[in-house]
Amino acid sequence: MNKIRLGPCVTFFPQPTTLLSTVDGAGTVNLMTASWAGIVSKTPPTMAISLHQSRKSYENIVRSGEFVVNMVPAHLAIEADYCGIRSGYDVDKLALSGLTTRSADKVSAPLLNESPLNVECRLTLEVPLGEYRLLIAEILEVHIDQAAQLEGGGLDATVFDPLVYLGGVREYWGLGEKKANAYKDGLVLAAKVE
Ligand SMILES: Cc1cc2nc3c(=O)[nH]c(=O)nc-3n(C[C@H](O)[C@H](O)[C@H](O)COP(=O)(O)O)c2cc1C
Repeated sequence: MNKIRLGPCVTFFPQPTTLLSTVDGAGTVNLMTASWAGIVSKTPPTMAISLHQSRKSYENIVRSGEFVVNMVPAHLAIEADYCGIRSGYDVDKLALSGLTTRSADKVSAPLLNESPLNVECRLTLEVPLGEYRLLIAEILEVHIDQAAQLEGGGLDATVFDPLVYLGGVREYWGLGEKKANAYKDGLVLAAKVE
């Protein structure tokens, strides 16, 4: 494989497409698209997101200390992109996108009804990163679409159909097919080489 250098940049694949839900002081809900989001610890369950300080979502999170990370399914690519190119300072993205919400259990920010995976978060730590702020949060509750629950335990991953973001080329893709079982299929190689 021949390589070319891109220099220091933010090209990296894949990234999740998420919609952050937050509330302002007047109780108005805002939705913002965020791809810099992910689980960063299991014990305790922890989520990290990174937001530019100019986002209304950043102001809302710092004020309330709470937010919800909603996984975006592939069929909501247009709505998600809209929420990433307009600010809640200028428009009511929840009303204009046609997306809907319901109350969360433990935080003031709501769950996105159309998302099959919602994570309720409480801010625990803020780390300055130039113009951005890395926000680290305790996961208080996770909600999933009941349709994903398999009889006898386990989850049907096809129900989630996550929208994948390719940062750097600015494209949304689907997930594709299952390739292997994690924490298991690598054992075949281990048995061969060890
Ligand atoms: C695919 C995509 C991913 C994005 N990810 C982030 C992100 O992780 N952090 C960030 O600060 N802005 C991100 N943005 C930009 C914000 O979504 C955008 O500036 C938005 O208008 C901010 O909304 P708000 O002011 O209502 O919070 C992303 C935009 C797109 C289209």
